[in-house]
Amino acid sequence: MGRLRLGVLISGRGSNLQALIDAGRDAGFPAEIALVISNQPGAIGLDRATQAGIATRVIPHRDHADRDAFERALDQALRSASVELVCLAGFMRLLSAGFVAAWHDRLINIHPSLLPAFPGLDTHARALAAGVRFSGCTVHFVRAEMDRGPILVQAAVPVTANDTEATLAARVLEAEHAAYPLAVRLIGEGRVRVAGERVMIAGASAPAAVLLNPLAD
Ligand code: GRF
Repeated sequence: MGRLRLGVLISGRGSNLQALIDAGRDAGFPAEIALVISNQPGAIGLDRATQAGIATRVIPHRDHADRDAFERALDQALRSASVELVCLAGFMRLLSAGFVAAWHDRLINIHPSLLPAFPGLDTHARALAAGVRFSGCTVHFVRAEMDRGPILVQAAVPVTANDTEATLAARVLEAEHAAYPLAVRLIGEGRVRVAGERVMIAGASAPAAVLLNPLAD
């Protein structure tokens, strides 16, 4: 069987794209990036893809009359590259219910919080303000509502007393770079089934330890 063909949608830095590129260098990784699409012409992630020899397309939302036309262009580009799974990786446009339905259970996103806590923007500032002891990231199947949908993988990181938005963001980002390739691998290995709001993963084990934060003295 061939590798699962990925379409990665970006708007900027592309460090999660890079994590997927790096994972794909391993011949045993069951997915390969067929196409990277950015809605922003200057996205740094485009250079990362080009350097890795991956096809790129720039589809600026501003060049399209409305969201429908923009999404039709996205859809067409993905289909003509025979994409089987779409990965949102810092893609800063909301996708309509129609697009989401067309790619139902073939469209995933990574979000820098432990969903359903802190959907939307400014997640790290809000996590710090709420005083949570753990934050992290979530890879989930996309549904019409923003940052909602069946959860594939989460990675938790501690929040420390001295954290700033920047230090917490960096810690979470490192977790993202492990979580996204894992989620894609599980799908590529055919181990993932969506049952209602939950994701079942064949043969997956979970960590046994309880994590306390702060540590007991
Ligand atoms: C990540 O924090 C991701 O969770 C969020 O947007 C950011 C994208 O970062 N959706 P990068 O472009 O992958 O570096």
